[in-house]
Amino acid sequence: MKILITGVAGFIGFSFAKYLLKNSKYQIIGIDNLNDYYSVKIKKERLKNLSNFKKFKFFKVDLNNKNQINKIFLKKIDIVYHFAAQAGVRYSLENPRAYIDSNIVGFFNIIENVKNHKIKKFFYASSSSVYGDSKKFPLKETDKINPRNIYGLTKKNNEETVEIFFKDLKTDCVGLRFFTVFGEWGRPDMLIFQYLSSIFNSKKIFYLNNYGNHTRDFTYIKDVCDVLYKLLNKRLIKRHEIFNICSNKPIKITSVLKYIDGNFSKKPKIKKRKFQLADVKKTHGENKKINNYINKNKFIDVIRAIDNTCDWYKANWKIYN
Ligand SMILES: NC(=O)c1ccc[n+]([C@@H]2O[C@H](COP(=O)([O-])OP(=O)(O)OC[C@H]3O[C@@H](n4cnc5c(N)ncnc54)[C@H](O)[C@@H]3O)[C@@H](O)[C@H]2O)c1
Repeated sequence: MKILITGVAGFIGFSFAKYLLKNSKYQIIGIDNLNDYYSVKIKKERLKNLSNFKKFKFFKVDLNNKNQINKIFLKKIDIVYHFAAQAGVRYSLENPRAYIDSNIVGFFNIIENVKNHKIKKFFYASSSSVYGDSKKFPLKETDKINPRNIYGLTKKNNEETVEIFFKDLKTDCVGLRFFTVFGEWGRPDMLIFQYLSSIFNSKKIFYLNNYGNHTRDFTYIKDVCDVLYKLLNKRLIKRHEIFNICSNKPIKITSVLKYIDGNFSKKPKIKKRKFQLADVKKTHGENKKINNYINKNKFIDVIRAIDNTCDWYKANWKIYN
Protein backbone atom coordinates (compact mmCIF):
# COMPACT_ATOMS: atom_id res chain seq x y z
CA MET A 1 0.00 0.00 0.00
CA LYS A 2 1.24 3.46 -0.89
CA ILE A 3 0.26 6.61 0.93
CA LEU A 4 0.78 10.11 -0.42
CA ILE A 5 1.33 12.81 2.20
CA THR A 6 1.34 16.38 0.95
CA GLY A 7 2.99 19.07 3.07
CA VAL A 8 5.35 16.39 4.39
CA ALA A 9 8.01 18.93 5.40
CA GLY A 10 5.39 20.74 7.48
CA PHE A 11 4.61 20.10 11.13
CA ILE A 12 1.61 17.77 10.89
CA GLY A 13 2.62 16.11 7.60
CA PHE A 14 6.09 15.33 8.90
CA SER A 15 4.84 14.09 12.29
CA PHE A 16 2.29 11.76 10.75
CA ALA A 17 4.69 10.49 8.08
CA LYS A 18 7.17 9.60 10.82
CA TYR A 19 4.43 7.94 12.87
CA LEU A 20 3.42 5.77 9.89
CA LEU A 21 7.00 4.91 8.99
CA LYS A 22 7.62 3.76 12.56
CA ASN A 23 4.33 1.96 13.17
CA SER A 24 3.21 0.52 9.84
CA LYS A 25 4.39 -1.16 6.66
CA TYR A 26 3.06 1.50 4.31
CA GLN A 27 5.31 3.09 1.73
CA ILE A 28 5.15 6.85 2.01
CA ILE A 29 5.50 9.31 -0.82
CA GLY A 30 5.87 12.84 0.48
CA ILE A 31 5.64 16.10 -1.41
CA ASP A 32 6.21 19.71 -0.38
CA ASN A 33 7.36 22.92 -2.08
CA LEU A 34 9.52 23.90 0.94
CA ASN A 35 8.26 27.48 0.82
CA ASP A 36 9.70 30.13 3.12
CA TYR A 37 6.54 31.08 5.02
CA TYR A 38 8.70 30.00 7.96
CA SER A 39 12.28 28.76 8.28
CA VAL A 40 13.20 26.38 5.45
CA LYS A 41 15.95 25.05 7.76
CA ILE A 42 13.28 23.49 10.00
CA LYS A 43 11.56 21.89 7.00
CA LYS A 44 14.86 20.47 5.73
CA GLU A 45 15.69 19.07 9.19
CA ARG A 46 12.33 17.32 9.25
CA LEU A 47 13.01 15.81 5.81
CA LYS A 48 16.48 14.72 6.91
CA ASN A 49 14.82 12.87 9.76
CA LEU A 50 12.43 11.09 7.38
CA SER A 51 15.20 10.19 4.93
CA ASN A 52 16.43 7.61 7.49
CA PHE A 53 13.48 5.42 6.51
CA LYS A 54 13.81 3.27 3.38
CA LYS A 55 10.05 3.29 2.81
CA PHE A 56 10.04 7.07 2.39
CA LYS A 57 10.45 8.99 -0.86
CA PHE A 58 10.35 12.79 -1.17
CA PHE A 59 9.58 14.95 -4.20
CA LYS A 60 9.83 18.73 -4.18
CA VAL A 61 6.60 19.70 -5.89
CA ASP A 62 4.32 22.73 -5.79
CA LEU A 63 0.57 22.14 -5.59
CA ASN A 64 0.15 24.73 -8.31
CA ASN A 65 2.29 22.80 -10.77
CA LYS A 66 -0.47 20.73 -12.28
CA ASN A 67 1.84 18.63 -14.49
CA GLN A 68 4.07 17.65 -11.58
CA ILE A 69 1.09 16.81 -9.39
CA ASN A 70 -0.35 14.66 -12.21
CA LYS A 71 2.97 12.80 -12.41
CA ILE A 72 3.01 12.08 -8.66
CA PHE A 73 -0.36 10.38 -9.00
CA LEU A 74 1.05 8.00 -11.65
CA LYS A 75 2.90 6.27 -8.78
CA LYS A 76 -0.09 4.05 -7.95
CA ILE A 77 -1.22 5.67 -4.75
CA ASP A 78 -3.88 4.08 -2.53
CA ILE A 79 -4.53 6.72 0.12
CA VAL A 80 -3.94 10.48 0.24
CA TYR A 81 -3.38 12.74 3.25
CA HIS A 82 -3.50 16.30 2.00
CA PHE A 83 -1.89 18.62 4.55
CA ALA A 84 -0.06 21.05 2.23
CA ALA A 85 -1.60 24.49 2.45
CA GLN A 86 -0.84 28.05 3.24
CA ALA A 87 -1.41 27.93 7.00
CA GLY A 88 -1.67 30.77 9.53
CA VAL A 89 -4.48 33.17 10.27
CA ARG A 90 -2.62 36.50 10.58
CA TYR A 91 -0.63 36.08 7.38
CA SER A 92 -3.93 35.86 5.48
CA LEU A 93 -4.35 39.62 6.06
CA GLU A 94 -0.93 40.31 4.54
CA ASN A 95 -0.92 37.89 1.63
CA PRO A 96 -4.40 36.56 0.84
CA ARG A 97 -3.32 35.44 -2.65
CA ALA A 98 -1.04 32.76 -1.19
CA TYR A 99 -4.17 31.16 0.31
CA ILE A 100 -6.10 31.26 -2.95
CA ASP A 101 -3.15 29.76 -4.85
CA SER A 102 -2.35 26.88 -2.50
CA ASN A 103 -5.62 26.25 -0.68
CA ILE A 104 -8.08 26.72 -3.54
CA VAL A 105 -6.29 26.12 -6.87
CA GLY A 106 -3.66 23.77 -5.38
CA PHE A 107 -6.37 21.90 -3.48
CA PHE A 108 -8.29 21.40 -6.71
CA ASN A 109 -5.21 19.99 -8.47
CA ILE A 110 -5.09 17.34 -5.75
CA ILE A 111 -8.77 16.41 -5.71
CA GLU A 112 -8.96 16.22 -9.50
CA ASN A 113 -6.25 13.54 -9.34
CA VAL A 114 -7.93 11.80 -6.41
CA LYS A 115 -11.00 11.53 -8.62
CA ASN A 116 -9.19 10.53 -11.85
CA HIS A 117 -7.14 7.83 -10.11
CA LYS A 118 -10.07 6.48 -8.08
CA ILE A 119 -8.19 6.87 -4.79
CA LYS A 120 -9.86 4.81 -2.04
CA LYS A 121 -9.50 7.26 0.82
CA PHE A 122 -8.84 10.98 0.85
CA PHE A 123 -8.02 12.82 4.08
CA TYR A 124 -7.63 16.60 4.00
CA ALA A 125 -6.79 19.28 6.54
CA SER A 126 -9.53 21.72 7.37
CA SER A 127 -9.36 23.96 10.42
CA SER A 128 -11.16 25.20 13.52
CA SER A 129 -10.99 28.57 11.72
CA VAL A 130 -14.07 27.58 9.71
CA TYR A 131 -16.19 28.24 12.84
CA GLY A 132 -15.28 31.94 13.13
CA ASP A 133 -16.01 33.86 16.31
CA SER A 134 -18.67 31.67 17.84
CA LYS A 135 -20.32 32.31 21.19
CA LYS A 136 -21.66 28.82 21.75
CA PHE A 137 -19.21 26.19 23.00
CA PRO A 138 -18.11 23.48 22.57
CA LEU A 139 -18.17 23.78 18.78
CA LYS A 140 -19.84 20.85 17.07
CA GLU A 141 -19.31 19.58 13.54
CA THR A 142 -22.99 20.25 12.87
CA ASP A 143 -22.80 23.93 13.93
CA LYS A 144 -23.12 26.63 11.30
CA ILE A 145 -19.69 27.69 10.06
CA ASN A 146 -18.83 31.33 9.53
CA PRO A 147 -15.10 32.05 9.01
CA ARG A 148 -13.71 35.50 9.85
CA ASN A 149 -10.63 35.43 7.65
CA ILE A 150 -9.50 34.33 4.18
CA TYR A 151 -7.65 31.35 5.65
CA GLY A 152 -10.82 29.97 7.26
CA LEU A 153 -12.78 30.77 4.13
CA THR A 154 -10.45 28.65 1.97
CA LYS A 155 -10.92 25.73 4.37
CA LYS A 156 -14.71 26.14 4.29
CA ASN A 157 -14.48 26.16 0.50
CA ASN A 158 -12.44 22.91 0.61
CA GLU A 159 -15.11 21.17 2.68
CA GLU A 160 -17.91 22.34 0.39
CA THR A 161 -16.00 21.47 -2.77
CA VAL A 162 -15.32 17.93 -1.55
CA GLU A 163 -18.99 17.47 -0.66
CA ILE A 164 -20.09 18.34 -4.22
CA PHE A 165 -17.13 17.07 -6.25
CA PHE A 166 -17.14 13.51 -4.84
CA LYS A 167 -20.90 13.13 -4.49
CA ASP A 168 -21.39 10.15 -6.81
CA LEU A 169 -17.97 8.59 -6.41
CA LYS A 170 -16.61 5.76 -4.32
CA THR A 171 -13.82 7.73 -2.61
CA ASP A 172 -14.18 8.02 1.16
CA CYS A 173 -13.38 11.60 2.13
CA VAL A 174 -12.43 12.84 5.59
CA GLY A 175 -12.17 16.53 6.51
CA LEU A 176 -10.03 17.16 9.60
CA ARG A 177 -10.79 20.33 11.52
CA PHE A 178 -7.56 20.72 13.48
CA PHE A 179 -7.55 22.89 16.63
CA THR A 180 -4.20 24.54 17.61
CA VAL A 181 -1.89 21.56 17.22
CA PHE A 182 1.40 21.73 19.14
CA GLY A 183 4.29 19.52 20.22
CA GLU A 184 7.72 18.32 19.14
CA TRP A 185 8.82 19.81 15.78
CA GLY A 186 6.01 22.39 16.08
CA ARG A 187 5.43 25.44 13.93
CA PRO A 188 7.64 28.44 14.71
CA ASP A 189 4.91 30.92 13.76
CA MET A 190 2.56 29.59 16.45
CA LEU A 191 2.32 30.82 20.03
CA ILE A 192 4.16 28.09 21.97
CA PHE A 193 7.19 28.05 19.68
CA GLN A 194 7.26 31.86 19.44
CA TYR A 195 7.41 31.95 23.21
CA LEU A 196 10.10 29.26 23.39
CA SER A 197 12.13 31.08 20.79
CA SER A 198 11.97 34.30 22.83
CA ILE A 199 13.17 32.44 25.92
CA PHE A 200 16.24 31.21 24.03
CA ASN A 201 16.88 34.43 22.11
CA SER A 202 16.91 37.51 24.33
CA LYS A 203 16.72 39.82 21.28
CA LYS A 204 13.38 38.35 20.24
CA ILE A 205 10.36 40.06 21.82
CA PHE A 206 7.30 37.93 22.46
CA TYR A 207 4.09 39.72 21.46
CA LEU A 208 1.19 38.74 23.68
CA ASN A 209 -1.97 39.44 21.73
CA ASN A 210 -5.21 40.43 23.46
CA TYR A 211 -3.14 40.66 26.70
CA GLY A 212 -3.15 36.85 26.88
CA ASN A 213 -6.91 36.61 27.26
CA HIS A 214 -7.47 34.31 24.30
CA THR A 215 -8.46 30.72 24.96
CA ARG A 216 -7.43 27.86 22.70
CA ASP A 217 -8.22 24.18 22.52
CA PHE A 218 -4.58 23.05 22.42
CA THR A 219 -4.18 19.60 20.86
CA TYR A 220 -1.00 17.56 21.21
CA ILE A 221 0.59 16.23 18.01
CA LYS A 222 0.91 12.69 19.45
CA ASP A 223 -2.85 12.57 19.99
CA VAL A 224 -3.38 13.91 16.48
CA CYS A 225 -1.18 11.15 14.98
CA ASP A 226 -2.98 8.49 17.04
CA VAL A 227 -6.34 9.74 15.83
CA LEU A 228 -5.22 9.92 12.18
CA TYR A 229 -3.81 6.40 12.36
CA LYS A 230 -6.95 4.96 13.93
CA LEU A 231 -9.08 6.63 11.26
CA LEU A 232 -7.02 5.09 8.48
CA ASN A 233 -8.83 1.76 8.48
CA LYS A 234 -12.19 2.86 9.83
CA ARG A 235 -15.20 2.47 7.62
CA LEU A 236 -17.09 5.70 7.28
CA ILE A 237 -20.80 5.97 7.91
CA LYS A 238 -21.11 8.66 5.25
CA ARG A 239 -18.87 9.00 2.16
CA HIS A 240 -17.73 12.40 3.41
CA GLU A 241 -17.20 12.84 7.14
CA ILE A 242 -15.88 15.93 8.91
CA PHE A 243 -14.30 15.68 12.36
CA ASN A 244 -13.12 18.13 14.98
CA ILE A 245 -9.60 17.07 15.93
CA CYS A 246 -9.28 18.63 19.36
CA SER A 247 -8.66 17.78 22.97
CA ASN A 248 -11.89 19.44 24.17
CA LYS A 249 -9.88 21.16 26.94
CA PRO A 250 -9.58 24.87 26.22
CA ILE A 251 -6.87 26.77 28.12
CA LYS A 252 -6.26 30.48 28.54
CA ILE A 253 -3.02 31.65 26.91
CA THR A 254 -1.72 33.11 30.19
CA SER A 255 -1.99 29.64 31.77
CA VAL A 256 -0.12 28.00 28.89
CA LEU A 257 2.71 30.52 29.29
CA LYS A 258 2.80 29.80 33.03
CA TYR A 259 3.16 26.06 32.34
CA ILE A 260 6.02 26.80 29.92
CA ASP A 261 7.68 29.13 32.45
CA GLY A 262 7.72 26.23 34.91
CA ASN A 263 10.26 24.52 32.63
CA PHE A 264 12.79 27.36 32.44
CA SER A 265 14.73 29.63 34.76
CA LYS A 266 14.67 32.48 32.23
CA LYS A 267 11.69 34.53 31.11
CA PRO A 268 11.37 36.17 27.69
CA LYS A 269 10.78 39.87 26.97
CA ILE A 270 7.03 40.27 26.59
CA LYS A 271 5.14 43.08 24.87
CA LYS A 272 1.40 43.04 25.43
CA ARG A 273 -0.85 44.00 22.51
CA LYS A 274 -4.55 44.59 22.02
CA PHE A 275 -6.84 42.22 20.15
CA GLN A 276 -5.58 41.63 16.60
CA LEU A 277 -7.81 41.66 13.54
CA ALA A 278 -8.58 38.18 12.11
CA ASP A 279 -8.13 36.52 15.53
CA VAL A 280 -10.93 34.78 17.38
CA LYS A 281 -11.19 35.05 21.17
CA LYS A 282 -11.82 31.41 21.89
CA THR A 283 -11.72 27.97 20.35
CA HIS A 284 -13.18 24.94 22.06
CA GLY A 285 -14.27 21.96 20.04
CA GLU A 286 -16.37 18.99 20.98
CA ASN A 287 -14.61 15.71 20.19
CA LYS A 288 -17.43 13.22 20.80
CA LYS A 289 -17.79 12.39 17.11
CA ILE A 290 -14.15 11.41 16.59
CA ASN A 291 -13.98 9.60 19.94
CA ASN A 292 -17.03 7.52 19.10
CA TYR A 293 -15.61 6.67 15.69
CA ILE A 294 -12.25 5.45 16.90
CA ASN A 295 -13.04 4.47 20.50
CA LYS A 296 -10.48 6.92 21.79
CA ASN A 297 -11.46 8.52 25.02
CA LYS A 298 -8.33 9.88 26.62
CA PHE A 299 -6.06 12.61 25.35
CA ILE A 300 -2.61 13.15 26.86
CA ASP A 301 -2.67 15.64 29.74
CA VAL A 302 -1.86 19.07 28.33
CA ILE A 303 0.66 19.99 31.06
CA ARG A 304 2.60 16.80 30.35
CA ALA A 305 2.42 17.53 26.63
CA ILE A 306 3.77 21.07 27.20
CA ASP A 307 6.57 19.69 29.40
CA ASN A 308 7.48 17.16 26.66
CA THR A 309 7.53 19.97 24.10
CA CYS A 310 9.78 22.12 26.32
CA ASP A 311 12.19 19.20 26.90
CA TRP A 312 12.33 18.57 23.17
CA TYR A 313 12.94 22.26 22.46
CA LYS A 314 15.80 22.40 24.98
CA ALA A 315 17.58 19.70 22.98
CA ASN A 316 16.71 21.13 19.54
CA TRP A 317 16.57 24.91 19.96
CA LYS A 318 19.39 25.42 17.45
CA ILE A 319 17.14 24.24 14.62
CA TYR A 320 14.76 27.09 15.48
CA ASN A 321 17.17 29.94 16.17
N1 LIG B 1 -1.03 23.26 13.07
C1 LIG B 1 -2.27 23.61 13.37
O1 LIG B 1 -2.58 23.91 14.52
C2 LIG B 1 -3.35 23.60 12.32
C3 LIG B 1 -4.64 24.01 12.72
C4 LIG B 1 -5.65 23.99 11.77
C5 LIG B 1 -5.41 23.55 10.49
N2 LIG B 1 -4.15 23.18 10.14
C6 LIG B 1 -3.95 22.73 8.74
O2 LIG B 1 -3.22 21.51 8.76
C7 LIG B 1 -2.33 21.45 7.63
C8 LIG B 1 -0.92 21.24 8.10
O3 LIG B 1 -0.57 22.32 8.97
P1 LIG B 1 0.87 22.48 9.60
O4 LIG B 1 0.69 23.07 10.93
O5 LIG B 1 1.63 21.22 9.43
O6 LIG B 1 1.46 23.62 8.64
P2 LIG B 1 2.91 23.75 7.97
O7 LIG B 1 2.95 25.12 7.38
O8 LIG B 1 3.94 23.35 8.94
O9 LIG B 1 2.85 22.67 6.81
C9 LIG B 1 2.32 22.91 5.53
C10 LIG B 1 3.35 22.46 4.51
O10 LIG B 1 2.79 22.64 3.22
C11 LIG B 1 3.77 23.14 2.35
N3 LIG B 1 3.11 23.90 1.28
C12 LIG B 1 2.43 25.08 1.40
N4 LIG B 1 1.99 25.47 0.20
C13 LIG B 1 2.38 24.54 -0.69
C14 LIG B 1 2.25 24.40 -2.10
N5 LIG B 1 1.64 25.32 -2.84
N6 LIG B 1 2.79 23.30 -2.68
C15 LIG B 1 3.43 22.35 -1.96
N7 LIG B 1 3.61 22.45 -0.63
C16 LIG B 1 3.09 23.53 -0.01
C17 LIG B 1 4.66 24.04 3.21
O11 LIG B 1 5.98 24.17 2.68
C18 LIG B 1 4.65 23.30 4.55
O12 LIG B 1 5.78 22.48 4.69
C19 LIG B 1 -2.55 22.74 6.86
O13 LIG B 1 -3.48 22.50 5.84
C20 LIG B 1 -3.12 23.69 7.90
O14 LIG B 1 -3.91 24.69 7.31
C21 LIG B 1 -3.12 23.18 11.02
